[in-house]
Amino acid sequence: MSSKATASWIATLLAALSCAAAPSGPITLRTATFELNLQPGADGRLYQREVGAAASSKDARRNEEFYPQAGDGYVFEPALQVTHADGNTSTTLLFTGATHTNEAPDIGLTRVNLRDPAYPFEVSLCFRTYHDRDVIEQWQEIHHQESRPVILERMASTSLLLPSTNTYLRHFFGDWTNEMQPVTEQLAPGMKVLDSKLGVRAGQFRNPSFILSLDGPPNETDGRVLAGSLKWSGSFQCAFDHDGQRVRALAGVNPFASAYFLKPNETFTTPVMIWVWSANGLGEMSRKFHDWARQFGIRDGNKIRSVLLNNWEATGFNFDFNRIASLFDPAKQIGAELFLLDDGWFGNKFPRTNDSAGLGDWQPNRHRLPNGLASLASEAGKRNLQFGIWLEPEMVNPKSELFENHPDWVIRQPKRDLELQRHQLVLDLTRPKVQDFEWSVIHDTLGTPGIAYAKWDCNRYLTQPGSSWLPSNRQSHLWIDYVRALYALMDKTARAFPHTELMLCSSGGGRADYGALKYFHEFWPSDNTDPVRRVIMQWDYSYFFPSMAIAGHVTHWGNRPMHFACSVAMSVRFGMDLDLTKLSAEDKAICAGAITAYKHIRDVTQLGDLYRLEDPHLEPRGALNFVARDRARAVLFVFQLKDAPAQPVLPRGLDPATRYIVRELNPAPGGPALPQEGKTFTGTELMRDGVVPSCAGALEACVVEFTANSN
Ligand code: DGJ
Repeated sequence: MSSKATASWIATLLAALSCAAAPSGPITLRTATFELNLQPGADGRLYQREVGAAASSKDARRNEEFYPQAGDGYVFEPALQVTHADGNTSTTLLFTGATHTNEAPDIGLTRVNLRDPAYPFEVSLCFRTYHDRDVIEQWQEIHHQESRPVILERMASTSLLLPSTNTYLRHFFGDWTNEMQPVTEQLAPGMKVLDSKLGVRAGQFRNPSFILSLDGPPNETDGRVLAGSLKWSGSFQCAFDHDGQRVRALAGVNPFASAYFLKPNETFTTPVMIWVWSANGLGEMSRKFHDWARQFGIRDGNKIRSVLLNNWEATGFNFDFNRIASLFDPAKQIGAELFLLDDGWFGNKFPRTNDSAGLGDWQPNRHRLPNGLASLASEAGKRNLQFGIWLEPEMVNPKSELFENHPDWVIRQPKRDLELQRHQLVLDLTRPKVQDFEWSVIHDTLGTPGIAYAKWDCNRYLTQPGSSWLPSNRQSHLWIDYVRALYALMDKTARAFPHTELMLCSSGGGRADYGALKYFHEFWPSDNTDPVRRVIMQWDYSYFFPSMAIAGHVTHWGNRPMHFACSVAMSVRFGMDLDLTKLSAEDKAICAGAITAYKHIRDVTQLGDLYRLEDPHLEPRGALNFVARDRARAVLFVFQLKDAPAQPVLPRGLDPATRYIVRELNPAPGGPALPQEGKTFTGTELMRDGVVPSCAGALEACVVEFTANSN
């Protein structure tokens, strides 16, 4: 060890020892109604008092350590597990100090510093508090000056301690076309693990967002609830370790096969965990989450979203310039503002006429689009329609020029038969040449004149995680380095194209996470666009995501009535995936009416507060309402899933004293009129007596606007 390193190591040791001898007072992370109390103990370790309980230094038990480390006394699921440079598999972290800075009047950054007394190894626990929104972001920065790399075997982003007596977990499982299905269960002694090992996306089978309810099963208006959401688009692990006395909620990068060799003087920053607190149930939790997300979680969260027409369900791969251009006039006539050209526009030696070829060859197909993308964008522009394009930059079909030229660019395992999914492979984004290639694809495509929007897709996950770029003794870095390189690419894209709107998609809802969403405006929740399924799925996504970020397209899935399908899509970011040239006049009129109504209410639905009223999992209908921030307007949606006698729906969040005029928007043709149509009521009356919707039969819907009456 050099004399400099020895001196710094001694300083580290002294700091830790002095801290152990004289722990400082509690560290309180405080937001409007939430407190997290940390306390260095007499032994120098950092302890947490249960959420809601006051800090105290007496009788700290090892299972109350805030960020427990493996190998030196802790016997439950550790937050940190390290193999030091000399092979020692234990870590001890002692408190050395904390700093706090105000980043904005409402936002604070607290760093709590810990050090190992035996090694020059440090961890900073970082917390960003958003005071008014009751949001805390937590992550760790791990740093060392040991003589050789240390191996991070496990490095959680969070490891919060919660009470164990009446704690429920709501989590979400699914698969392609059936994403985001909730399960609510009481946590019991033992470990409950939710994870994914998909590498290039967080979800498909499980979502990295969950809810913990501390007072029994969660409900919309009462009880203490914490939403947790991990900002990570790769393999994740959320673990709930119930030791009989406490629940420890851990979340972070999945330790599975992901040992990370951290070089001396490098810093490993874990993904960020988002915690959102409410003492008044799920509704308040979501409103705070949405409010945070619009400002910090997604791009341009203060701008309302346009009306989009996509060709995927209408044409699939079967189109050319004329076919696509023929969709523009009807799109414009009906009120669409943006056209999205989906998969199938590229590939020449291997034309992308189905999903088995062409992926990776991002030149417009010369037969289909002889004058390229710009001419199609310009045709759309002539009608004042914006134009968007589909891309899947991370993937390649073996039947492509790209694969012919660069077979070593794909992620695969040597000596194993190539395993394809949807006939495709993932490009190895840890390889600099692949990073350059993907950037050139994005740069050239989005830089085409007239491109205002892009859908970024990702249609497979890793099953053979081998990289021919990474050294053989660093293969475990693939999982983390891929996601980091992906974020670098997404960040570059967002910076280079600040005015291009971006949709995040991954075989449907495989990338519904705030890690990637930061660079995007919205996500595609599912390829299942059956509005019956969407009523429920949108409800479940809405626990975490604001409606403006959830893309909802009207299609023929399920062959539901057009009025029902349009109403369901109107409650999120409205789009259509229909061949308008083939619609009946009546359906066209319904769509046009829905678009007019959507344009009228979208400032309320996208920027306002959401109140979930009737749970479609439990009731014959789903009902929700949005309220503008100034409470001068509100919009109520009722989606009837089963026949039921007409019952009033009670809106929430209105201003009690304001008098509101009640008006149904885009009523179903030939349906009964809303009994309260055109009448005025106070907010108190509406919230007490409700509105009897004009729908009672299955697959009917009703959208009602409340407008403050200024007279
Ligand atoms: C999967 C997406 O989820 C669909 O919306 C569509 O874009 C296809 N990929 C295109 O291949």
